[in-house]
Amino acid sequence: MKKIVILISGGGSNMQAILKTSKERGWSERFDAKVACVISNVQEAKGLQIAKDWGVETEVVAHLNFKSAENPRLAFDKELIKAIDRYSPVLVVLAGFMRILTPHFVEHYSGRLINIHPSLLPAFTGLHTHARAIEMGCHFSGATVHRVTAELDHGAILEQAVVPVLRGDTEQDLASRVLTQEHIIYPRAIERLLGDEN
Ligand code: GAR
Repeated sequence: MKKIVILISGGGSNMQAILKTSKERGWSERFDAKVACVISNVQEAKGLQIAKDWGVETEVVAHLNFKSAENPRLAFDKELIKAIDRYSPVLVVLAGFMRILTPHFVEHYSGRLINIHPSLLPAFTGLHTHARAIEMGCHFSGATVHRVTAELDHGAILEQAVVPVLRGDTEQDLASRVLTQEHIIYPRAIERLLGDEN
Protein backbone atom coordinates (compact mmCIF):
# COMPACT_ATOMS: atom_id res chain seq x y z
CA MET A 1 0.00 0.00 0.00
CA LYS A 2 1.20 3.53 -0.82
CA LYS A 3 1.88 5.52 2.32
CA ILE A 4 1.41 9.20 3.01
CA VAL A 5 3.16 10.86 5.95
CA ILE A 6 1.79 14.18 7.24
CA LEU A 7 3.92 16.63 9.22
CA ILE A 8 2.19 19.10 11.57
CA SER A 9 3.12 21.62 14.26
CA GLY A 10 -0.25 22.70 15.64
CA GLY A 11 -3.99 22.38 15.26
CA GLY A 12 -3.95 19.96 12.37
CA SER A 13 -7.14 21.09 10.69
CA ASN A 14 -5.64 20.52 7.23
CA MET A 15 -4.48 17.08 8.34
CA GLN A 16 -8.01 16.34 9.52
CA ALA A 17 -9.47 17.47 6.20
CA ILE A 18 -7.07 15.13 4.41
CA LEU A 19 -8.01 12.20 6.67
CA LYS A 20 -11.71 12.91 6.20
CA THR A 21 -11.40 13.12 2.42
CA SER A 22 -9.26 10.00 2.23
CA LYS A 23 -12.04 8.10 3.99
CA GLU A 24 -15.00 9.67 2.20
CA ARG A 25 -13.44 9.31 -1.24
CA GLY A 26 -12.02 5.85 -0.68
CA TRP A 27 -8.35 6.48 -1.27
CA SER A 28 -7.42 3.03 0.02
CA GLU A 29 -9.70 1.27 -2.51
CA ARG A 30 -9.16 3.68 -5.42
CA PHE A 31 -5.46 4.40 -5.08
CA ASP A 32 -4.26 1.73 -2.65
CA ALA A 33 -3.07 4.66 -0.51
CA LYS A 34 -3.46 5.75 3.09
CA VAL A 35 -2.16 8.22 5.65
CA ALA A 36 0.26 5.98 7.54
CA CYS A 37 1.61 8.40 10.12
CA VAL A 38 1.34 11.95 11.44
CA ILE A 39 4.56 13.40 12.84
CA SER A 40 4.84 16.61 14.84
CA ASN A 41 7.86 18.62 15.90
CA VAL A 42 5.78 19.90 18.85
CA GLN A 43 4.83 17.49 21.63
CA GLU A 44 1.71 19.51 22.55
CA ALA A 45 0.37 19.86 19.00
CA LYS A 46 -3.42 19.49 19.20
CA GLY A 47 -3.50 17.68 15.87
CA LEU A 48 -1.76 14.64 17.37
CA GLN A 49 -4.85 13.69 19.38
CA ILE A 50 -7.06 14.21 16.34
CA ALA A 51 -4.83 11.85 14.34
CA LYS A 52 -5.03 9.24 17.13
CA ASP A 53 -8.81 9.58 17.17
CA TRP A 54 -8.72 8.75 13.46
CA GLY A 55 -6.69 5.65 14.26
CA VAL A 56 -3.54 6.98 12.62
CA GLU A 57 -0.09 6.37 14.10
CA THR A 58 1.59 9.45 15.53
CA GLU A 59 5.14 10.37 16.40
CA VAL A 60 6.93 13.36 17.87
CA VAL A 61 10.37 14.45 16.75
CA ALA A 62 10.94 17.55 18.87
CA HIS A 63 13.23 20.12 17.29
CA LEU A 64 14.00 21.43 20.79
CA ASN A 65 15.96 18.24 21.50
CA PHE A 66 18.59 19.26 18.95
CA LYS A 67 19.39 22.72 20.30
CA SER A 68 22.87 21.76 21.44
CA ALA A 69 23.87 19.91 18.26
CA GLU A 70 26.62 21.46 16.17
CA ASN A 71 24.09 22.07 13.39
CA PRO A 72 20.66 21.90 15.11
CA ARG A 73 18.62 22.30 11.95
CA LEU A 74 20.43 19.53 10.09
CA ALA A 75 20.49 17.22 13.13
CA PHE A 76 16.72 17.63 13.52
CA ASP A 77 16.06 17.07 9.83
CA LYS A 78 18.17 13.90 9.81
CA GLU A 79 16.19 12.49 12.75
CA LEU A 80 12.96 13.47 11.03
CA ILE A 81 14.08 11.68 7.87
CA LYS A 82 14.72 8.52 9.91
CA ALA A 83 11.20 8.68 11.38
CA ILE A 84 9.56 9.33 8.01
CA ASP A 85 11.57 6.74 6.06
CA ARG A 86 10.31 3.93 8.26
CA TYR A 87 7.11 4.30 6.20
CA SER A 88 8.77 4.66 2.75
CA PRO A 89 6.09 7.21 1.80
CA VAL A 90 5.15 8.15 -1.74
CA LEU A 91 4.16 11.57 -0.41
CA VAL A 92 5.31 13.74 2.49
CA VAL A 93 2.68 16.37 3.22
CA LEU A 94 3.54 19.51 5.19
CA ALA A 95 0.31 20.66 6.86
CA GLY A 96 1.03 23.63 9.08
CA PHE A 97 4.54 22.37 9.71
CA MET A 98 6.26 25.49 10.97
CA ARG A 99 9.90 24.62 10.39
CA ILE A 100 12.27 25.73 7.68
CA LEU A 101 13.69 22.56 6.16
CA THR A 102 17.30 22.08 5.10
CA PRO A 103 18.25 21.47 1.45
CA HIS A 104 19.34 17.99 2.62
CA PHE A 105 15.76 17.21 3.68
CA VAL A 106 14.19 18.75 0.60
CA GLU A 107 16.50 16.86 -1.76
CA HIS A 108 15.89 13.60 0.09
CA TYR A 109 12.15 13.89 -0.69
CA SER A 110 12.56 15.45 -4.11
CA GLY A 111 9.32 14.98 -6.08
CA ARG A 112 7.47 13.66 -3.02
CA LEU A 113 7.25 16.77 -0.80
CA ILE A 114 4.33 19.22 -0.85
CA ASN A 115 3.20 22.15 1.31
CA ILE A 116 0.21 24.41 1.81
CA HIS A 117 0.83 28.11 2.28
CA PRO A 118 -1.80 30.66 3.34
CA SER A 119 -1.33 33.18 0.52
CA LEU A 120 -1.57 33.39 -3.23
CA LEU A 121 2.05 32.54 -3.99
CA PRO A 122 4.34 33.95 -5.19
CA ALA A 123 2.92 36.82 -3.08
CA PHE A 124 3.62 36.83 0.66
CA THR A 125 6.07 34.02 1.25
CA GLY A 126 7.03 33.52 4.90
CA LEU A 127 5.02 34.42 7.99
CA HIS A 128 2.09 36.74 8.85
CA THR A 129 0.60 36.43 5.37
CA HIS A 130 -2.90 37.59 6.33
CA ALA A 131 -1.76 40.68 8.23
CA ARG A 132 0.48 41.61 5.30
CA ALA A 133 -2.31 41.10 2.74
CA ILE A 134 -4.65 43.35 4.76
CA GLU A 135 -1.92 45.92 5.31
CA MET A 136 -1.18 46.05 1.57
CA GLY A 137 -4.85 46.63 0.79
CA CYS A 138 -5.17 43.41 -1.24
CA HIS A 139 -8.69 42.82 -2.54
CA PHE A 140 -8.05 39.09 -2.78
CA SER A 141 -5.97 36.57 -0.92
CA GLY A 142 -6.02 32.80 -0.68
CA ALA A 143 -3.98 29.66 -0.31
CA THR A 144 -1.54 27.68 -2.42
CA VAL A 145 -0.55 24.02 -2.51
CA HIS A 146 2.90 23.72 -4.01
CA ARG A 147 5.85 21.41 -4.39
CA VAL A 148 8.64 22.13 -1.94
CA THR A 149 12.03 23.27 -3.14
CA ALA A 150 15.02 24.46 -1.13
CA GLU A 151 13.81 28.05 -1.50
CA LEU A 152 11.11 28.86 1.08
CA ASP A 153 7.52 28.85 -0.32
CA HIS A 154 8.67 28.48 -3.90
CA GLY A 155 8.21 25.44 -6.14
CA ALA A 156 5.60 24.51 -8.71
CA ILE A 157 2.03 25.41 -7.86
CA LEU A 158 -0.42 22.48 -7.72
CA GLU A 159 -3.65 24.12 -6.53
CA GLN A 160 -4.82 27.59 -5.49
CA ALA A 161 -7.97 29.04 -3.98
CA VAL A 162 -8.90 32.72 -3.99
CA VAL A 163 -10.94 34.49 -1.30
CA PRO A 164 -11.97 38.15 -1.04
CA VAL A 165 -10.42 40.40 1.57
CA LEU A 166 -13.40 42.28 3.00
CA ARG A 167 -13.42 45.80 4.37
CA GLY A 168 -12.72 45.71 8.11
CA ASP A 169 -11.33 42.16 8.05
CA THR A 170 -9.10 41.28 10.98
CA GLU A 171 -6.18 38.93 10.51
CA GLN A 172 -8.31 36.22 12.14
CA ASP A 173 -11.28 36.85 9.84
CA LEU A 174 -9.12 36.44 6.78
CA ALA A 175 -7.26 33.45 8.23
CA SER A 176 -10.46 31.51 8.84
CA ARG A 177 -11.88 32.37 5.39
CA VAL A 178 -8.65 31.11 3.81
CA LEU A 179 -8.48 28.02 6.03
CA THR A 180 -11.93 26.88 4.87
CA GLN A 181 -10.56 26.86 1.32
CA GLU A 182 -7.34 25.14 2.38
CA HIS A 183 -9.44 22.22 3.58
CA ILE A 184 -10.82 21.84 0.05
CA ILE A 185 -7.70 22.33 -2.07
CA TYR A 186 -5.18 20.30 -0.05
CA PRO A 187 -7.07 16.99 -0.19
CA ARG A 188 -7.86 17.70 -3.85
CA ALA A 189 -4.19 18.25 -4.72
CA ILE A 190 -3.19 15.03 -2.98
CA GLU A 191 -5.94 13.05 -4.67
CA ARG A 192 -4.79 14.36 -8.04
CA LEU A 193 -1.18 13.34 -7.33
CA LEU A 194 -2.30 9.88 -6.23
CA GLY A 195 -4.34 9.58 -9.43
CA ASP A 196 -1.37 10.64 -11.56
CA GLU A 197 0.70 7.84 -10.02
CA ASN A 198 -1.72 5.13 -11.19
C1 GAR B 1 -2.60 26.82 7.76
O1 GAR B 1 -3.23 28.04 7.51
C2 GAR B 1 -1.41 26.64 6.84
O2 GAR B 1 -1.62 27.16 5.56
C3 GAR B 1 -0.36 27.44 7.57
O3 GAR B 1 -0.56 27.13 8.92
C4 GAR B 1 -1.94 26.83 9.14
C5 GAR B 1 -2.02 25.47 9.82
O4 GAR B 1 -3.32 25.18 10.21
N1 GAR B 1 0.94 27.08 7.13
C6 GAR B 1 1.96 27.94 7.08
O5 GAR B 1 1.88 29.09 7.44
C7 GAR B 1 3.26 27.34 6.55
N2 GAR B 1 4.23 28.36 6.37
P1 GAR B 1 -3.72 23.70 10.64
O6 GAR B 1 -2.67 23.20 11.64
O7 GAR B 1 -5.06 23.86 11.30
O8 GAR B 1 -3.77 22.84 9.41
